[in-house]
Amino acid sequence: MSKIDPFAPAILGNLNLRNRIIKAATFEGMTPGGVPGQRLLDFHKEIAEGGIGLTTLSYCTTEADGRIMESMMWLHDGIRDELSALIAELKTTGVKVSGQVTHCGHFSQNKDLKRDQPPKGPSKMFVGIGLTAGRPIAPAMTHEDIAHLIETYRNAAAFMKDVGFDAMEIHFGHGYGLSQFISPKTNKRTDEYGGNHEKRMRVPLECLAAARAAVGDDFPILGKISMTDAVKGGITYEQGIEVAKSLDQAGIDGIVPSGGTSSYNSMYLFRGQSIAKGMAAMASSAASKFIYKIMGPLMWKNYPYEPTFFLEASKRIKETVGCPVIYVGGVSTRADLDRVFEAGFDFVQIGRPLLIDPEFVKNAQHDPVYDSGCTHCNFCVPLIQHPDGIRCVLKDKKEVAHVA
Ligand SMILES: Cc1cc2nc3c(=O)[nH]c(=O)nc-3n(C[C@H](O)[C@H](O)[C@H](O)COP(=O)(O)O)c2cc1C
Ligand code: SF4
Repeated sequence: MSKIDPFAPAILGNLNLRNRIIKAATFEGMTPGGVPGQRLLDFHKEIAEGGIGLTTLSYCTTEADGRIMESMMWLHDGIRDELSALIAELKTTGVKVSGQVTHCGHFSQNKDLKRDQPPKGPSKMFVGIGLTAGRPIAPAMTHEDIAHLIETYRNAAAFMKDVGFDAMEIHFGHGYGLSQFISPKTNKRTDEYGGNHEKRMRVPLECLAAARAAVGDDFPILGKISMTDAVKGGITYEQGIEVAKSLDQAGIDGIVPSGGTSSYNSMYLFRGQSIAKGMAAMASSAASKFIYKIMGPLMWKNYPYEPTFFLEASKRIKETVGCPVIYVGGVSTRADLDRVFEAGFDFVQIGRPLLIDPEFVKNAQHDPVYDSGCTHCNFCVPLIQHPDGIRCVLKDKKEVAHVA
């Protein structure tokens, strides 16, 4: 019997949730032209009706040029009505709504840039994903760019509170904009924004402070981090603890410890079958299929799936910080859920298993040997680029199996 009941109501910051189970951000790919609509609503509503406490609209960027690709939503007045209506409709199910707030920094293939500038990171460097947009070298941000970036977090946070979000989750990990400052692999600056831990944390902490100033203390701000970049020259697990400590000291309302980066080793944050298979399946030409088949093992390192794969590392974060810690990674069965709460975590985030089974919460609550059925095939991952967005490729088969 776990100490904390995951299914009982709980408070996160000052936010009342009907339970401790949160939908992890999984970029939906359902905002064509950056506009949220019916498809995004249906996706989250189905999961909300399944009983989770808080859902997370993924990858809401702080400005148009914070998008990795054109189909991402950026937080601005042009979508105010659509977004307010979507959030209000979701809340009718009893769920609370959070949004993951991001900026891609230099990790971009977006060709629809609104500022008259290429995407930039902390330091000038080669960026593989930029090749597809004809921009293999990303310049370093100037002090003016940094001030602008911080301002985008202030504006985005104010906008989120205004349109009805209940909470926000700032992305400090996975190789995106703020993580590029945190990581010594991508931050080679020698000014006040690069060098030791304090200097590399300066921009992320200033973005957090700007967001906090905009929303006040009664609006939960969570932070997703990479405990390690798991790549040579990047953040180590030891350094990841310091990152969590700094965010805790800065007054964050909860930390979501993840790991890896989308730029260098994306499989580290998912685990399971390489996404090369899904990429090959989605490729339109025989040549691209062939390339993914041959190059896939070189492009995506293999990290086999293990249940609750970040548990031991995340426990170290939990032991160190005072704020709530929201476990994420490999919670696919009732046994996984129990293991997380027995380890003392405050909340849990679930990604893929909610794609295959939106009723995870109801089913796990009533079945002590519940298994969502997610095989960690990761075919859902490349679908972030599909015109219809993500879905579990096994979901329909599973429904058929249940009926039978
Ligand atoms: C299709 C898909 C898209 C994802 N997009 C995001 C994202 O936009 N932001 C993020 O922080 N993590 C993203 N993730 C990672 C998940 O939030 C989560 O950290 C990871 O899947 C491990 O949790 P799980 O085992 O419960 O799926 C994505 C995962 C999937 C499967
Ligand atoms: S496609 Fe379905 S079974 Fe495969 S990883 Fe995604 S959610 Fe799990």
